Parts: sequence; structure tokens; C-alpha cells
Amino acid sequence: MNSLLVHTAWELRKLLAELRRPGVALGLVPTMGALHAGHGRLIEQARGDCGLVVVSIFVNPIQFNRQDDYERYPRTLDADLSFCKARGVDIVFAPSIEEMYPGRQRTFVEVERVSEKLCGKFRPGHFRGVATVVTKLLNMVQPDLAYFGEKDAQQLAVIRRMVRDLNMPVEIVAAPTVREPDGLAMSSRNQHLNAAERQVAPALYQGLRAARDLIRRGATDPEEVRKAALAVIAEQPLLRVEYLEIVDPEEMQPVKTITGPVRVAVAAWLGSTRLIDNVLCEADTA
Ligand code: PAJ
Repeated sequence: MNSLLVHTAWELRKLLAELRRPGVALGLVPTMGALHAGHGRLIEQARGDCGLVVVSIFVNPIQFNRQDDYERYPRTLDADLSFCKARGVDIVFAPSIEEMYPGRQRTFVEVERVSEKLCGKFRPGHFRGVATVVTKLLNMVQPDLAYFGEKDAQQLAVIRRMVRDLNMPVEIVAAPTVREPDGLAMSSRNQHLNAAERQVAPALYQGLRAARDLIRRGATDPEEVRKAALAVIAEQPLLRVEYLEIVDPEEMQPVKTITGPVRVAVAAWLGSTRLIDNVLCEADTA
């Protein structure tokens, strides 16, 4: 089946009115394009759960805090369309900037506390931009389910909290992080890495795994775990860590003692590319 490409909210509404059926779930997978197997995982999950699947592709300017990052973000609409077609996506919604932001945006969605630490601290305004555009997309598509990756764990926590706090009638579904064979989390930004950077990039995940092993074996002191993970990453001097924190998975606040499930989250620079990754961990009870 051919995926249908639409560029305007009006076309989208018309098409959904034709295709939507009572009792058939509608799933939305919001993306910024440059689709890879990580996005593919979300689409497959949506395809399994829903009778109708919409993928949105929009590089959202208001969530970028650096103009150069926005400008060099990969844009590959033709390849993305084939990617969606091959996975049985029903509708690809790829609005222009003018369509998404016809006038000056005066209304923004801000999720307090959950947005504050980690990426929220180093990318001011980022989650406000994400929460606002996701609200707009949810309003335009009105899906029953919307799919987000655990790769962006803070984003997932922000969206979950927003939907709960604002009584949005949608179920948020999380999909696990898809990795390259060497452990590097897939990301559209990996394309920016040169050969030397690409080679050392998996050290980020190796650091997280070291943290996870300690926590599984019962470590409760976050400082001890942080140090162990940082030591692994420091073996690759090209990697410049921005933060590495052990946080609770809902509010994304650093914990004082590890007593239940936690996320170990990291952001690091490799040259001019910023990478993030995280793992969910818990002590082995067996
Ligand atoms: P983007 O980076 O394109 O990611 C779209 C979705 O794919 C997000 O939910 C993200 O967590 C998920 N994803 C990315 N890489 C993944 C991986 N390796 N494994 C599993 N899932 C992965 O995130 C955004 O776009 C934007 O912020 C958006 C939500 C679309 C709002 O503009």
C-alpha cells in the first residue's frame, strides 16, 4: 500500500475523516525525519497496535537552541517516504514551517520540574519547544495512541507528564532504544560524526553499561556509580561529557540513594556533535 503524503492540516483532516473508522485505533509517530531503524521500531509498534498509522515529519525550529544545529539537521524527505511506504504507514504528514507556525507563536506548553535538569539545563527552551509542537501535532491528528522512544528518556517523561497534567485524550506508548551492533544508540545526528568520532562513540554506552552492572549488583551510592561510568567514558578523550546523572524515571531528578528503578542518563560532545543516551536500571532481586 502506498503511504499518502500530505503537507497541510486541512488535507490531513480531510483524509482522516475519510479513513478513520469507529473501533479502529489511530496511531501517531512524531518525528523530525532522517528516519532510521530507531524510528522504524516506533512505526512497527504502531503498525502492530493500530489500524491507521500517521508519521509526522517536521524539523521543529522552536526546539533548537542553536541555529547551526537546526540548519545542519539532515532533511531527507524522499528517502523518508520510501522508508514509511516499506513499513505500511498510511499517512505521512510533512507540514512546512508556515503551516505549523503561520503567525508568531504566542502560546507555549511548559512542563515544570521534569524539564528542568539534564538536557533541560543545557538546552534552555528545548522541552518547551518539544511540548508545544507535540501538543500541536496531537491536536491536528487526534490520535488514540502516540509513540515515543526511550532513547530520548527526558522527552518521554515530559510528554507523559504533559498528557497527564492537561488531560489529553491520548495514550503514550514507549519503545526501547535501537542500537547499532557496537552499542551506539541510533540517531539522525550520528551522520555528522567523522570516522574517528564514530569509532569512539560506543564508549558512551559502555559507560552506561558499567553503571548498570554496578546498580544490578546492588550499588546504592549514585556518586560511586557516576565515577565508574565516567572513568569508562574518559578512556576516549575525544568524548567530552556534558552531564552524566542518575535520576528517577518520572521526574528526572538526581537521586540521593539508589533504592528503586533509576535512569542513568548521559550527554556528550564528539567534535561539534552532541549525543545523548540512557539506560534504565534496577538492583537484581534474585
Ligand atoms: P526525532 O529525533 O526524529 O525522534 C522521533 C522519535 O524517535 C522520538 O520519540 C525518539 O525518541 C525516537 N527515536 C530516535 N532514535 C531512536 C532510537 N535509537 N531508538 C528508539 N527510538 C528512537 O524526538 C524528536 O524527533 C522530536 O523531538 C519530536 C518528538 C518529533 C518533536 O519535534
